[in-house]
Amino acid sequence: MSQAEIGLIGLGVMGANLALNIAEKGHRIAVFNRTVETTRKFHADSGDLKSRIVPCETIEEFVAAIRPPRPIIIMIKAGEAVDQQMEALKPYLARGDIMIDAGNANFRDTMRRFGVLKDTGLTFIGMGVSGGEEGARHGPSIMVGGTEESYARVEEVLTSIAAKYDGEPCVAWLGENGAGHFVKTIHNGIEYADMQMIAEIYGILRDGLKMTAEEIGEVFGTWNRGRLNSYLIEITEKVLKATDPLTGNPMVDMILDKAGQKGTGKWSAIEAQTMGVPATGIEAAVAARSISSMKEEREAAERILGLPPVGEFQVADKAAFITDLENALLAAKIGAYAQGFSVMAAASKEFGWNLPMPTIARIWRAGCIIRSQFLDEITSAFTKAPDAANLIVTPAFAAMVKETDGALRRIVSAAVLGGLPVPALASALGYFDSYRRGRGTANVIQAQRDFFGAHGFDRIDGADSHHGPWGSGLNG
Ligand code: 6PG
Repeated sequence: MSQAEIGLIGLGVMGANLALNIAEKGHRIAVFNRTVETTRKFHADSGDLKSRIVPCETIEEFVAAIRPPRPIIIMIKAGEAVDQQMEALKPYLARGDIMIDAGNANFRDTMRRFGVLKDTGLTFIGMGVSGGEEGARHGPSIMVGGTEESYARVEEVLTSIAAKYDGEPCVAWLGENGAGHFVKTIHNGIEYADMQMIAEIYGILRDGLKMTAEEIGEVFGTWNRGRLNSYLIEITEKVLKATDPLTGNPMVDMILDKAGQKGTGKWSAIEAQTMGVPATGIEAAVAARSISSMKEEREAAERILGLPPVGEFQVADKAAFITDLENALLAAKIGAYAQGFSVMAAASKEFGWNLPMPTIARIWRAGCIIRSQFLDEITSAFTKAPDAANLIVTPAFAAMVKETDGALRRIVSAAVLGGLPVPALASALGYFDSYRRGRGTANVIQAQRDFFGAHGFDRIDGADSHHGPWGSGLNG
């Protein structure tokens, strides 16, 4: 029997679905799981695809089943387990074999793993996979980091299993080393911002306009047929319209308002801060998840402080207000994506990756969680202006910002005056207002720094005098 084209370790939900996807596209795949029972059950349940799946019960048998140079996808919990798995595999592998970490790894771990394998003759790929369970099974978006040579070995398989947008596969080699996992991290950071902004808009509709979950679902459904068309808006309509089988209430009303997080959003914010790139939408979203998790503390604070004493939420024209909400969400989304792409541009320079921005937007158009029509517009903006300093100064997006930021300003104002928290929406407005203002206020900060620490400043007239007159009497 012919050898398998590829191997996969880790038959959890994501790994199992990815393996079935690979087999379905006509490739022979060897699979291995720590628990032999899981491997047996997976094979037994694989239906028509059974003949293309080689279930292996030992690592030795698994490695021998794959055609060299062997690409081996590792789809297990990110972190130490990956290092342990790599160590366990190493003795059985030969020169040129490729270990592919397809989990949500921190790109710094990925870079370290490249380092560990350097000079061993073995290769590594850090591969971001987005799209959840469904994506893994029927077409994810795949972000590859590693050598071009190792990508060439897996390109055919990955191209066949990736999601397609207008027939184009949503997979690409993005650069050496940690490039793929970095891009996946920023994808998730943007995903956090997108989700938080949607939740804030939901909050205005629920607590401001006092609409029911079903009614709000209708609003999102309408928006999904317009410029906001995207997977996250689509599923928001669905979750808002779902009924709890236990109580008959809207499902969403029965869910505790405490959000979980596994780390990728936080990593995006940390990396942005480390590189000095503003990513306020992602930061606000991560902070909002943290505040959400402090449920008991928030309830205690509400008992002490009460809700803001603002009276009834007033809206003169409900239909116009809902149109403003739609445009505000679009404007804020532009801000978050602009920030995410700026973080990637900075990382590309810092790590020497040469990240292809139009390609990244292109492979996010389908398969991944943030997939949308909007990403097609980003692809086109970056194709026309690959070196733009920021997405929002490209002609198409500058026009969109000018068209929608008035709505964002009105919505943020209404929410603030109505006592409703909109940290991510407000962060986008603050970002636009700061970024577009040629003369800011940091002259005062420079003066203060010089006053208390003699840190010096540059002058607007370029004169060769870098300290203020604070010492001459003003200081005391
Ligand atoms: C994806 C998702 C996926 C996962 C996140 C959720 O692109 O398919 O982003 O990676 O759902 O890890 O992350 P949190 O648990 O941190 O929300």
